[in-house]
Amino acid sequence: MGIEQANTTLTPLLRYVIDQAMRVLHTADEIAEKVAELGDRISLAYQSSEVFIIGVLKGGFMFMSDLVRRINLPVKIDFVRLSSYGNADSPMGDVTIVDDIHEAIAGKHVLIVDDIMDTGHSLLAFKKHLLKKGPASVKLCTMIDKAERREASISPDYYGFRINEGFVVGYGLDFAENYRALPQLYILDAEDRRNLL
Ligand code: IMP
Ligand code: MG
Repeated sequence: MGIEQANTTLTPLLRYVIDQAMRVLHTADEIAEKVAELGDRISLAYQSSEVFIIGVLKGGFMFMSDLVRRINLPVKIDFVRLSSYGNADSPMGDVTIVDDIHEAIAGKHVLIVDDIMDTGHSLLAFKKHLLKKGPASVKLCTMIDKAERREASISPDYYGFRINEGFVVGYGLDFAENYRALPQLYILDAEDRRNLL
């Protein structure tokens, strides 16, 4: 379904916000093409091995569901929820695992799938947490890589698009829990972001 069709069901306020405060970063077609390309690369890299794919909620839900359908390998899936409002004295720094994986991963190939890597703190903390459980490997795939904002020493093994600046919404990504369901990726205008709160 294209954005035009999807937009016929949008409320007037959401239609207004999309028109006034957002610009399209990548269309649904561009996203689908990129996801297929990532699926092919991942399928080749693991050479028929089973992959345990962990989606990071909520932002990674849409990318995860599209990506797993383009991966031609035996896969098992799970989801986790991370939060960055934790205790800085905890082993994961500011990052807390609100809901962890539900299965053992010892000896398994693990692929973490998330919407975006920004500073990198949350995915580095989560990757370290998984490495303690003895997996065969842990790799990371994010739809967007904000490489210039990186603070932690980590980068995604696979990424869809790289951007330098701007706040991204749509295709799973939110601003104050809004806009996750939009089928395209948008940049939300900085000034309007303040007005929208
Ligand atoms: P990091 O630990 O700074 O890499 O945090 C990454 C998390 O922050 C992502 O999983 C998103 O939930 C959120 N985030 C960072 N940048 C954006 C953005 O541009 N739009 C929406 N969420 C973002
Ligand atoms: Mg997230």
